[in-house]
Amino acid sequence: MSDRFPFPIPDGWFGVAWSEDVSAGELKTIRCFGSDWVLFRTNGGEAGMMDAYCPHLGAHLGHGGCVDGDAVRCPFHGWKWSRDGSCADIPYAQRRPTGLAIRTLPVCERSGTIFAWHHGAGAPPDWEVPTMPEFSDPGWTEPEHLEMEIATCCQELGENAHDPAHFVSVHGVANPPVSEIEFEGRQKISINRGRLETPRGPIETIIRGESFGLGLGITRVSGLTDMVFLAMNTPIDEEHLQLRWSFTVPRVGESRRAEGVGRAFIREFMRQLEQDKPIWETKRYEPRPRLCDGDGPIAAYRKWATQFYSLPAR
Ligand code: FES
Ligand SMILES: [Fe+2]
Repeated sequence: MSDRFPFPIPDGWFGVAWSEDVSAGELKTIRCFGSDWVLFRTNGGEAGMMDAYCPHLGAHLGHGGCVDGDAVRCPFHGWKWSRDGSCADIPYAQRRPTGLAIRTLPVCERSGTIFAWHHGAGAPPDWEVPTMPEFSDPGWTEPEHLEMEIATCCQELGENAHDPAHFVSVHGVANPPVSEIEFEGRQKISINRGRLETPRGPIETIIRGESFGLGLGITRVSGLTDMVFLAMNTPIDEEHLQLRWSFTVPRVGESRRAEGVGRAFIREFMRQLEQDKPIWETKRYEPRPRLCDGDGPIAAYRKWATQFYSLPAR
C-alpha cells in the first residue's frame, strides 16, 4: 500500500481500454490493479483479460504471445490458455497436468469501453456495469475520448466532488455547487442545479451524476442542452490512476450548438482538473479530518466507500 493513502486497490468494475483499441485477434499488455495483464480479443471478437505471466515457466505473454482462435498462445513453449483461464493445449505433452489455470478477470463491454472486474479477494462480480443507451444511439454523436494519468487513488479523487469549499478557493467558482446526494448500495446519485459557464455566457443546467463503485461515473447534463459524460478512474497501482472520459451529445436539432456546449463543459472540467492535480498529487489522506459546517458530505462519502475494500484498510 501507498505511504500517502491507507487503501488497497478497491473492488469493482473499471474501464481498462476503449473497445476500438483492441481489434479481433489483437493482444496488448496493460498495467492496472498493480500488475501486468494481457488484454486481447479472440478471432470471434470476444474481449478477454489474463495475467501477463504464463504459469508454466513465467514468460510474459505480452512479449511475443498471440491470439490463437479463442485462446492465447505463450511465446516460450507454445502452451495455449483459454479465455476462461483453462489450459487449452500443451503441444508436446502426452498427459496434461491437472488443475492448470492462468488468472483471468471477468470482462464486459459497454458504451465503447472494455471493463474488467477487480476484487481483492477474487470474488466474482455482484453487480453489473449499467448500459448507457446514448453511446450506441445513432441520434447521438460518435463519443469523444480523453485520457490522463494522475498520482492519486480512486477514493481521494471521488472525495473532491463532495468538497464544495474548494470550488471557491481552487476553481474560482463564485458560488460552490449545491447538490443533493443519495447513497444507495453500490450507487451514489447526486443532482446539481447550477450555471455552466460557456463562451456565450452562462446557461442553467441540471447535472445528474451516478457513480457505480469507485471507478465509474455517469454524468447527464440537461437544461438548454443534453450531454452524457462517462468518467472512469482505473487504478494502475495503489497511488496512480488512469483517467478516461467519453462524452456524447445529441445529433438532432441544434447539434452544432449542443456540441459547442458539450465541448465547453469538457473544457471547464479539464480546467478544474488541472487546478486540482497539484493538490491531489501531493496531498495525503487525512483519516481524522477536522471538518466544519460548509465542508459537505465528506464523512458520508467515506462511509459509503468502505464497502469497496475486501481487504482491510491499514
Ligand atoms: S512459459 Fe509459457 S509455455 Fe512455457
Ligand atoms: Fe476540484
